[in-house]
Amino acid sequence: MAEQNLRITLRERPTGAVSMDHFTLERVPVPALDDGQVLVKTRYLSLDPAMRGWLNDVRSYVPPVGLGEVMRAQGIGEVIESKHAERPVGSLVLANMGWQSHYVAAGAMVQPLEAGDLPPQTYLAALGMPGMTAYFGLLDVGKPEQGQTVLVSGAAGAVGSVVGQIAKLEGCRAVGIAGGPDKCAVVVDELGFDACIDYKNEPSLSKAIRRTCPDGVHVYFDNVGGETLNTALRRMALRGRIVICGAISTYNATTPQPGPSNYMALLVNRARMEGFVVFDYAARFPEARERMAQWIRDGKLISREHVIHGLEHAVDGLNMLFSGGNTGKLILEV
Ligand SMILES: NC(=O)c1ccc[n+]([C@@H]2O[C@H](COP(=O)([O-])OP(=O)(O)OC[C@H]3O[C@@H](n4cnc5c(N)ncnc54)[C@H](OP(=O)(O)O)[C@@H]3O)[C@@H](O)[C@H]2O)c1
Repeated sequence: MAEQNLRITLRERPTGAVSMDHFTLERVPVPALDDGQVLVKTRYLSLDPAMRGWLNDVRSYVPPVGLGEVMRAQGIGEVIESKHAERPVGSLVLANMGWQSHYVAAGAMVQPLEAGDLPPQTYLAALGMPGMTAYFGLLDVGKPEQGQTVLVSGAAGAVGSVVGQIAKLEGCRAVGIAGGPDKCAVVVDELGFDACIDYKNEPSLSKAIRRTCPDGVHVYFDNVGGETLNTALRRMALRGRIVICGAISTYNATTPQPGPSNYMALLVNRARMEGFVVFDYAARFPEARERMAQWIRDGKLISREHVIHGLEHAVDGLNMLFSGGNTGKLILEV
């Protein structure tokens, strides 16, 4: 019997939080390969906050996932059948395979993955899109200088955990903001940040930032937006930089969210706030990957991964990003 593909397609666009009701889980036969195509068996899928945005029918940096289409996701898989000379059976590949167990594509659409001595899933984490986001967002947009203070929200997450570690490698003070004592313990004790603010238990985020960043914030790397961004604005140092990486606190909102009322702090502090999209740096990913892989080998950078299992849990996994259920890069093992 032909291989069966277990896949999740978008049935209905969500308003607010996502549930399995918005998707269809189905089994369909895997089609026969044409010349030049490969059949990839999915091993790991990346679960990312951006996925929530891809479900909305709005203009963004990528088109939305269409109704009836397989939910978009980056992943790692193994070629199990090949009609492409340079993608042999048994090779590992990175591809935009989506939420499905089997992916048929032109060989050129899948990128060979030479994981070498590092675990393949690291290429979805510190050496993948989140790591590239941390690297270029911090170094190219935030431009931290030795001795300066870098504050990062979502500090126990995929991007934030790497931002703080790179800040330390650049000779900065790294202060995280994360939800709960366990996450803050990981951020300080395991990842080496200088301090971590538990925003879920601190009575005043503003006072906590003043306490942990006594010289002000030179770079604020913002992963969450909303009130956290508004508060951080008031604590910026002279000529500080705010890196707008994401705003996860607003992604499930059902009404338009207000901008930060404290924006005049940019004027007072001659500061600036700048957004970026990691894909703009794609040409420089190899350079960053090589440097970061060496940091990992040298024990200077930890790629923290949080692996959950089973394609049928993809939606629950996505929701973990919004409830704070993940510590480190959330990966689904299929
Ligand atoms: N600009 C780009 O090119 C780019 C690329 C990749 C990612 N991003 C953005 O980077 C951010 C982080 O992504 P990631 O993949 O590293 O996710 P992540 O940090 O691994 O996971 C999301 C985390 O956000 C926190 N969170 C959720 N709801 C929150 C709320 N209402 N207020 C405060 N914190 C909340 C949770 O941590 P706590 O338990 O600490 O609350 C959760 O664990 C996202 O905003 C994402 O969209 C941007």
